Amino acid sequence: MPVVYSAQRGAADAVLRAEGLVFSYKPREGELPPRVLDGVDLSVWRGQLVAVLGHNGSGKSTLARHFNALLAPVCGRVLVDGMDTSDEKLTLDIRRHVGMVFQNPDNQIVASVVEEDVAFAPENLGYPSDEIRARVDGALRTVGMYEYAKHAPHLLSGGQKQRVAIAGVLAMEPKCVVFDEPTAMLDPRGRESVVNIIRSLCDDLGVTVVLITHHMEEAILADRIVVMSEGRVVMDGRPREIFTQPDALQGYGLGVPETVSLLRGLREDGFDVPLGALTADECADAIMTAVGGAVLSGCENGDVAD
Ligand SMILES: Nc1ncnc2c1ncn2[C@@H]1O[C@H](COP(=O)(O)OP(=O)(O)O)[C@@H](O)[C@H]1O
Ligand SMILES: [Mg+2]
Repeated sequence: MPVVYSAQRGAADAVLRAEGLVFSYKPREGELPPRVLDGVDLSVWRGQLVAVLGHNGSGKSTLARHFNALLAPVCGRVLVDGMDTSDEKLTLDIRRHVGMVFQNPDNQIVASVVEEDVAFAPENLGYPSDEIRARVDGALRTVGMYEYAKHAPHLLSGGQKQRVAIAGVLAMEPKCVVFDEPTAMLDPRGRESVVNIIRSLCDDLGVTVVLITHHMEEAILADRIVVMSEGRVVMDGRPREIFTQPDALQGYGLGVPETVSLLRGLREDGFDVPLGALTADECADAIMTAVGGAVLSGCENGDVAD
């Protein structure tokens, strides 16, 4: 299994690190506790956008909760910037380091005015008011919601609400944000805006991002993809490496992006298209090149009328 970049980097470069992480929820009486995480070893390097894929119940959300010290390992350990999440004295620091964004923004938004909601966490931490103002304005600008500062969150669209929820996390100025299926409840437009923001957090602000998603199209945009199955990391590589192994993915109950299945279909039909194209643009280029090549060779053979 290729592990992206791990050979070149030391433990100190890992913002998030799980070492031999085993976890079980409390079993019902008389039942043995099933291992929900069964020996996860994973390092997320500074400034990376890592997408986590896996079928339902594979342990993605449980892993995410470990990175925010919401859960503690039964065996092994989890380090956030070197801080052991099992040490309760570090919990507050860990939560400042790692923000979490969940599926449903309605569960994260607590105030009745956008800017008050975004100010909630820095206010709780007792920052001075001009610092809070600067953080709130900065966070709202980052997610493109500055104009909505005085609006009521419940009147916003799903995508806008999710952007407010993200601003609320950004106001803490976290080094890392873990997104647990943040677009699952959004329409395509809302999804696109949220995904663009996630990518720009990484590219423009240097925030380390873990993006748990069901959407293969979103995973394409990641620097690295980790696939989970039955509480383990079973694949780990760059998107191109992962998505050129459709049979392995299928074995873990996952599909491939539409671009990949389109190119595979064309290849099965005899077109000489490369299989490495992932984005819509790359896919279009690959098809144009193949079709152009077919037309040209048709011309050479005298098959194409002028
Ligand atoms: N609070 C909980 N109590 C007991 N079992 C849970 C709890 N949360 C999740 N599980 C179980 O743990 C397994 C992994 O769940 P989860 O981490 O939510 O997976 P995923 O996010 O990949 O769908 C599932 O079998 C699920 O039923
Ligand atoms: Mg989940």
